[in-house]
Amino acid sequence: MLGSNLLNYALGVFSNDIGIDLGTANTLVFVRGRGIVLSEPSIVAIDRNTKKVIAVGKDAKSMIGKTPENIQIVRPLKDGVIADFDVTQEMLKYFIKKVHEDTAITKLLKPRPRIIVGVPSGITTVEKRAVIDAAKQAGAREVFLIAEPMAAAIGAGLPIQLPGGNMIVDIGGGTSEIAVISLSGLVLSTSIRLAGDEMNSAIIQHLKRAHHILIGEQTAEKIKVKLGSAYPTERDDQEMEIRGRDMTGMPRSAVIKGGEIREALEDVVSNIVNAVRTALEKTPPELAADIVERGIVLAGGGSLLYGLDKRLREETDLPVYYCDEPLTAVAKGIGISLDDIELIKKVSFD
Ligand SMILES: Nc1ncnc2c1ncn2[C@@H]1O[C@H](COP(=O)(O)OP(=O)(O)OP(=O)(O)O)[C@@H](O)[C@H]1O
Ligand SMILES: [Mg+2]
Repeated sequence: MLGSNLLNYALGVFSNDIGIDLGTANTLVFVRGRGIVLSEPSIVAIDRNTKKVIAVGKDAKSMIGKTPENIQIVRPLKDGVIADFDVTQEMLKYFIKKVHEDTAITKLLKPRPRIIVGVPSGITTVEKRAVIDAAKQAGAREVFLIAEPMAAAIGAGLPIQLPGGNMIVDIGGGTSEIAVISLSGLVLSTSIRLAGDEMNSAIIQHLKRAHHILIGEQTAEKIKVKLGSAYPTERDDQEMEIRGRDMTGMPRSAVIKGGEIREALEDVVSNIVNAVRTALEKTPPELAADIVERGIVLAGGGSLLYGLDKRLREETDLPVYYCDEPLTAVAKGIGISLDDIELIKKVSFD
């Protein structure tokens, strides 16, 4: 057994087996034997005329707001799924190439990696196909899809293979996923297309309505991180000066307060909280008893909204805590499954 595992591991490392957390906001790539080697925004810059890719990831993000007319900035994933297939494929190919290390042997034998991609649990068959095709086009020999909350739970170190309820809530950029896992299966999963991006939109809308000032997504994200919250705290009285444009396009600035941003985010936050409560209500009693004891585990960047853990604790009356590294839990979980073919087979989608 140990021998075959070792052989499998060596083969995997040799063929550069890869795990990809293809996120709406960020893509992370885990390479077998090396760990997480890439973490970049899921953004691509394209030439409008020739449709050629000009930049991907960090390089493309740094161009936002500074591009001439002929360059278009695209986020190929929306609400956690592939919105633009061609661009997603280009992005995947670029990232896979970037992490691939050529050695004398790999140059000669051209190994084709096994690729595991994390996808939202609510993915449709057509969307599944799109992800598999993109990974194959990018050179994969074999592609497995794993539900993001399952990967997050593995990455968070939850005992998912044992009988017993584990609840994970992964709030990303595009989707919030709530899952109850036991015996390596999703007993229950809910995926709502409301997460960090929608929080940014709510802030943009609020500034437009209440301050008549237009801001971009990046400014909205900064406000969310610095001033946003999901629970009344000392942040309510904190202030921040922001710059944008007025309705005529002239530069304008305004001073905003934490409390108003909390209120602007309330709609998105309460929707996420309600989805968690509904999932708890639907959880079979035996597993619910485990969750009462073990608590709810939070993952994903969107869960880092200030006070969200406290808010959930208060509204569910359960222990709520963050996993070690919320932004990398999915990629880490996929990485762990890369080492364990039996686990992949158990936890991957058909
Ligand atoms: N400190 C923070 N406070 C609030 N939000 C944060 C913080 N840090 C990151 N975020 C948000 O987390 C989101 C990105 O999280 P993550 O990388 O987990 O998403 P993703 O995996 O790309 O998306 P998805 O899983 O929905 O496809 C962004 O909306 C970002 O603004
Ligand atoms: Mg994610």
